[in-house]
Amino acid sequence: MRKMYVPRFMYLIIIFSCFLLFHNHVQAQEPILEICSNTANYTSNSQFQTNLNILLPSLLPDGTRDGFFNTSIGTSPDIVYGLVQCRGDISMEDCRSCLNNSAVEIIRRCPNRKDAALRYDHCILRYSNTRFFSQVDSTRRGLLNPANVSDADANRYNRQLGSLLNSLSTTAASVVTKFGAASTDYADFKRIYGLVMCTRDLPATQCFSCLQSMIGWIPSCCTNREGARIFSTTCYIRYEIYPFVQISSQSPSPPPPVQGKSVNVVAIVVPVIVAVILAAICVYFITKRTRKNRRKRKPELIYENDIRSEDSLQFDLNMIRTATNDFSDANKLGEGGFGAVYKGELLDGQEIAVKRLSKKSGQGSLEFKNEVVLLHKLQHRNLVRLLGFCFAGDEKLLIYEYVPNRSLDKYIFVPDRRADLDWERRYKIIGGIARGLLYLHEDSRLRIIHRDLKAGNILLDEEMNAKISDFGMAKLFGVDQTQGNTSRIVGTYGYMAPEYAMHGQFSVKSDVFSFGVLVLEIISGHKNNSFYESERAEDLLSYAWRQWEEGTALELVELTLREHYSRNEVMRCIQTGLLCVQDEVARRPTMASVVSMLNSYSVTLPLPTAPAFFVSQPILPERSISSSIPESINEASITELQPR
Ligand SMILES: *[C@@H]1O[C@H](CO)[C@@H](O)[C@H](O)[C@H]1NC(C)=O
Ligand SMILES: *[C@@H]1O[C@H](CO)[C@@H](O)[C@H](O)[C@H]1NC(C)=O
Ligand SMILES: *[C@@H]1O[C@H](CO)[C@@H](O)[C@H](O)[C@H]1NC(C)=O
Ligand SMILES: *[C@@H]1O[C@H](CO)[C@@H](O)[C@H](O)[C@H]1NC(C)=O
Repeated sequence: MRKMYVPRFMYLIIIFSCFLLFHNHVQAQEPILEICSNTANYTSNSQFQTNLNILLPSLLPDGTRDGFFNTSIGTSPDIVYGLVQCRGDISMEDCRSCLNNSAVEIIRRCPNRKDAALRYDHCILRYSNTRFFSQVDSTRRGLLNPANVSDADANRYNRQLGSLLNSLSTTAASVVTKFGAASTDYADFKRIYGLVMCTRDLPATQCFSCLQSMIGWIPSCCTNREGARIFSTTCYIRYEIYPFVQISSQSPSPPPPVQGKSVNVVAIVVPVIVAVILAAICVYFITKRTRKNRRKRKPELIYENDIRSEDSLQFDLNMIRTATNDFSDANKLGEGGFGAVYKGELLDGQEIAVKRLSKKSGQGSLEFKNEVVLLHKLQHRNLVRLLGFCFAGDEKLLIYEYVPNRSLDKYIFVPDRRADLDWERRYKIIGGIARGLLYLHEDSRLRIIHRDLKAGNILLDEEMNAKISDFGMAKLFGVDQTQGNTSRIVGTYGYMAPEYAMHGQFSVKSDVFSFGVLVLEIISGHKNNSFYESERAEDLLSYAWRQWEEGTALELVELTLREHYSRNEVMRCIQTGLLCVQDEVARRPTMASVVSMLNSYSVTLPLPTAPAFFVSQPILPERSISSSIPESINEASITELQPR
């Protein structure tokens, strides 16, 4: 028994040191992708840092997970979202060690950044202050094997590589692990090994389009290379002519364990032999790896020009035809200023809205695509998300997320459905529109003036949250500058600011005007542009202003709302609405002030002046009142400013 103890002990030591050497080798690797975003930084000892320090260790595998995890810590504005994923073919041990190392490195390499990502060959770690789950990143980067295949093999190599990666991406997109690996022959005794994967938060279609975008780059980035890695933060492909990946269907089952049994000699000799063989294998692999690294030149890292990411936003026309039943009338959701909108369902079940553009764009296809890529980057919970586009022949389509509950005008102006939106919901909708518009005006990287904000362009999701649609259309059609003068007026009568309607002058303040009209419509249930049809012979703005002046502003409130509403909130909204529709452009607040006026009960609102189009001489003589502004300040505006 004592004799057996020594050899066993020996080979434990060998295995352990072999493991340590390999382990160090893995840890010494450089990340293949390092993104430290410059858009926002946190300060030391901030709540964000605290949340990040909780997040990173919580992302490490804990035995219950299989190589993927996403979560968030904290609450807005200090919320931090995190995601980790390991390559589908590596062990949990390697996964853990890769991620543990990433968690340390990401802080070291990206100090104080609110948004960062590190990708190693074996794992990816990503965190951000904005929610990035389920969104494709198609900024392509590549790492090339410097060696080329021989000219004799090139044709067959390229063909086989294409079909290998395409079939892998089809299957990987549809399985839950979002991972696929396989190999194929391209010449006698020569094989290509391929791997594709997406982060698992991506739905099938997004994963597929991300992978297709990476594969589509190969002919220009990597012709005839013996191997390459092409990746973004959301997907990854790699191919080589040596087995760098474990292919599950071909992986051999582990050899049966050696049993120390029967004769004493065997019990001593077998462990010694096994130990020697293990040591030899260990030495062989380590020297081979280092030799390989020395001999081979460093892989070349290449980055692609950002604008090409348009490829991954491009949808296939046949796919859209199938999704919309070939643009059938039954699928038609409505007709907008720029074309009809159809509901569709992609193969993976995702619902979409397809806008079939009827107008001819003033721009060439390339500029148009570039605008779509920019609009795609606008992401806010109160904006309808643009998913992509499709150009084919005469068809120009824009693909949007589908928002189930139709537009606001189908509720507030329809007697039977008014009651579906009580005051609480309407107040939430007003706040949502304000935040969405603020994002368009100031917070996004692009400064976008909507120019056609109206109830018909506010869509409602399943929780009746407001989502602004049709933004950026003027820009897409090549008529937008951030401020200026235009002869092409897009907009809807009743919502247009006077300076825009009459002189074509637009600015963020013309959107503020439209917002004000919208707020007054939401409260009153009357359309500004059809108010004259009612018994009162004046428009909504003049009527609202008159009620305000007379101290009876609450008369504006629609009847179904009157049973249950907060006077304080309603008065605040009416006053804000009137401030927005003031005739004098400079007096209208910015959306930033509007948001703070609506949010905070401690902000004292300025008093509005007369709205645009206010007719001081009433049209009907019997409604005549003094046109001079009364001295006494509206009582309601003072008492209602107290917090609830
Ligand atoms: C964040 O910090 C980096 C490095 O110090 C700097 O380059 C970047 O401009 C900062 N970003 C902001 C938004 O302050
Ligand atoms: C993880 O990502 C999925 C896919 O986007 C999402 O549905 C899920 O809510 C995320 N999990 C957490 C905890 O945020
Ligand atoms: C992570 O690595 C650090 C050192 O790099 C080590 O001290 C720590 O125990 C590791 N944590 C886990 C959970 O493996
Ligand atoms: C492989 O081909 C590329 C492009 O033709 C060339 O730039 C590169 O130097 C070649 N690599 C080797 C090792 O010859």
